[in-house]
Amino acid sequence: MKICIAPGDGIGPEIMAEAVRVLKALDLKMEFEEAQVGGCAVDATGDPLPEASQKLVREADAILLGAVGGPKWDANPREQRPERGLLRIRKDLNLFANFRPAILYAELANASSLKPDIVSGLDILIVRELTGDIYFGQPRAIEIRDGERFGFNTMHYSESEIRRIGRVAFEAARKRNKRLCSVDKMNVLETSQLWREVMIELEPEYPDVELSHMLVDNAAMQLVRNPRQFDVIVTGNMFGDILSDEAAMLTGSIGMLPSASLDENSKGMYEPSHGSAPDIAGKGLANPLATILSAAMMLRYTFSLDEHAQRIENAVQKVLAEGYRTGDIYEPGLKRVGTTQMGDAVLAAL
Ligand code: NAI
Ligand code: MG
Repeated sequence: MKICIAPGDGIGPEIMAEAVRVLKALDLKMEFEEAQVGGCAVDATGDPLPEASQKLVREADAILLGAVGGPKWDANPREQRPERGLLRIRKDLNLFANFRPAILYAELANASSLKPDIVSGLDILIVRELTGDIYFGQPRAIEIRDGERFGFNTMHYSESEIRRIGRVAFEAARKRNKRLCSVDKMNVLETSQLWREVMIELEPEYPDVELSHMLVDNAAMQLVRNPRQFDVIVTGNMFGDILSDEAAMLTGSIGMLPSASLDENSKGMYEPSHGSAPDIAGKGLANPLATILSAAMMLRYTFSLDEHAQRIENAVQKVLAEGYRTGDIYEPGLKRVGTTQMGDAVLAAL
């Protein structure tokens, strides 16, 4: 198992150190290689994904990434911005399937912005298409037209792009509670009309999964009204970007949420959903659990090591039950810890 570690910027190196400690404790046959991606790579080479890192990323079976970015690079031109490194990895490796679970741990029920009776027990999975849609469509530009600045982007999806993400989502639903909600904007957009047609064409292949459809504006509403109605949600890149952040916030804890981005052969990049948290970087305060849970997703989705993944997830559950809390999830009366102490607690629980 060849794993490329890309700690990145800000809190990235701190949280990554804990995830690597947890992986090493499992005593699996893993090789770790470290790659510079993001702002750290821009500083070293001028490129957020330099040639050496591209090579490591390509040769690995899985990539575990911390976070990239920070105010230091905000004014850089687009090609020299840290997140450009991430977008290029997604595109180069064809990581078209983004899995974003939103799970509310019983121990953190008070962290949600919603009332416990609406949100407790929440466990949904958003499957977001990640390599198509308006984020990548050409042409795109800001131009002068009729004497004023004019900005435009292009939204498109091919039926094969929709079919492959649709299949991934049906398969994911099959392994969970067998309910799949496809989210689109078919009343306004042709891409969405095609999206819905293709999802309906796939339906007969998965008779055990119940497929429903929802318009994206309603989905945004339903997620805060009655989020537990959802099991798996599948949607395009832009809608998925927005809805997955909304769903994440229902759990109230940005420091707890992992994510996975997979290609057709289950090679994947795994990363916490949060960013590089420049406000707390270097202080040993960051919550490493999202990265540790991302490592668990890596074991499950790329290496089919379900049992080992489950062991990590159980250990996380245990440290929460024991009352260990980093600042982002702290409640008075519980044990406030820093990044390495949280890692220690997970290792002890393991
Ligand atoms: P952020 O997620 O970095 O931080 C938002 C808030 O959550 C901050 O108050 C931060 O301290 C807190 N937070 C985040 N992760 C935490 C953790 N593990 N433990 C405890 N607290 C945590 O989002 P923000 O502030 O919008 O972005 C900061 C930088 O990160 C920007 O440069 C942005 O571009 C980048 N970013 C990178 C992402 C990635 O690498 N995938 C994703 C999102 C943002
Ligand atoms: Mg986002």
